[in-house]
Amino acid sequence: MTESEQTTDDNSGQDGSPHVPTAPKKTIVMVGLMGAGKTSIGRRLAARLGLPFVDADDEIEAAAGSSIEDIFDRLGEANFRDGERRVIARLLDGPPIVLATGGGAFMDAETRGRIAATGISVWLRADIDTLLRRTSRRNDRPLLKSGDPREILVRLMKQRHPIYQLADIVVDSFDAPAEETLRHVLDAVAAYRFAEAT
Ligand code: S3P
Repeated sequence: MTESEQTTDDNSGQDGSPHVPTAPKKTIVMVGLMGAGKTSIGRRLAARLGLPFVDADDEIEAAAGSSIEDIFDRLGEANFRDGERRVIARLLDGPPIVLATGGGAFMDAETRGRIAATGISVWLRADIDTLLRRTSRRNDRPLLKSGDPREILVRLMKQRHPIYQLADIVVDSFDAPAEETLRHVLDAVAAYRFAEAT
């Protein structure tokens, strides 16, 4: 796709979103708790911006040749975090993409530093009921299996929200249709890029 074609694509304009002249030159990194919508919104964002979408958890599983649950079970969380750090570093070194990270990735200072240096981070902030509802659809998140999911998520919110808040962009991802949240993310990314360029 040429730059002018992308300009036409991105600048649909009818929904009132600010003009996004070209696909971002930086990787856009989706951050937030399990169930915040990082994959679902990230995928849509990538399609709208004409960037590839990559899910860091999928990449970790591919690199390890086993599931996240398996990695946690057999090797432990610390080992998973090492792999997560390495995989995200590799992805950030490559061409721009939309990257959905696992909920714990942004808690790692080294990863945060890399993201700040090379990417644009977007925290999808969701309330506890939204997170609970969405995470209950899947049963493969090791952290949510060690007790009551509501208590675990509330604890993680307390620990992680102050750090997620360091993201470049914060967008609420409550009980709205995905297209609406996507529009807010697109607007915020466009505004961020405009501010960065001026
Ligand atoms: C984790 C979140 C998961 C996955 C792993 C640990 C976390 O990813 O990386 O189970 O620490 O919050 P999602 O946020 O995509 O569910």
